[in-house]
Amino acid sequence: MTILDGKKVSNQIKEEITQQVAEMKARGEKVPHLAAVLVGNDGASLTYVGSKVRACERIGFESTLVKMPETTSEEELLKKIEELNQNDDIDGFIVQLPLPKQIDTQKVLLAVDPDKDVDGFHPMNFGRMALEMETFIPATPFGILEMLERYEVETSGKHTVVIGRSHIVGRPMSILMGRKGFPGNSTVTLTHSRTKNIKEMTLQADIIITALGVPGFLKADMVKEGVVVIDVGITRVPDVTRDRGYRITGDVDFENVSKKSSFITPVPGGVGPMTIAMLLKNTLLARARHKAAKA
Ligand code: GUN
Repeated sequence: MTILDGKKVSNQIKEEITQQVAEMKARGEKVPHLAAVLVGNDGASLTYVGSKVRACERIGFESTLVKMPETTSEEELLKKIEELNQNDDIDGFIVQLPLPKQIDTQKVLLAVDPDKDVDGFHPMNFGRMALEMETFIPATPFGILEMLERYEVETSGKHTVVIGRSHIVGRPMSILMGRKGFPGNSTVTLTHSRTKNIKEMTLQADIIITALGVPGFLKADMVKEGVVVIDVGITRVPDVTRDRGYRITGDVDFENVSKKSSFITPVPGGVGPMTIAMLLKNTLLARARHKAAKA
């Protein structure tokens, strides 16, 4: 059994990007600039956005954090997005989700300039992904592909079962694993809350990608010997033995499922750290495209 070590791989990627940024600086070029918009005070979102901004600083990117109050109107947020679209100094930006309920998320995602959409959430970029055109692949799915690639996990001709159809993980993953090339060329089954007898599906799977948010959902009796397991679950479970009062738990009963797995991601330290590294990679790509467009 091999642990897919997201911490290690993400550090490698960050080192590679740091090197590229240093070379840009040495050539006197502008470094990539990422902006993040955070509306409201959601605890998890504050943590994620804080990590994204700190990661930018560490690798030498410029970063801007735009904090807006919980009471922000849709109109005010759309105005801010237009400012970021127009700001030539900013190469890419993200709007952290979820948004407060008075704001229509679809409308907001549509307002982001697709060339600055480093989250890959704009319908144009999502469509380009499905059509195998150059695009920004959403960071978490992109991170999963990168891990499969760096650990040389065979995906061609394999049966991949994705659990969960979220727009951020499950749905894009189901598309990416069926695309031509490596990683890809899989036969994909997308399962969700209305799927009857998920166990019947998972028992047939060579690769299982769970993005459900139900701690310990995937049990050892649901998988076959030699399975590849990618756990995208990140649920905060109360834990009084921890200083912060909770621990992060995945969708997989790791202790027992790992015994039957050929490759498996731990939680924490698997997919999670990859997400930020891939956002940085998308920002680097956005900078290169922005520069080429102006040349
Ligand atoms: N909320 C949870 N995951 C993400 C993400 O990858 N990007 C953004 N913008 N919001 C999120």
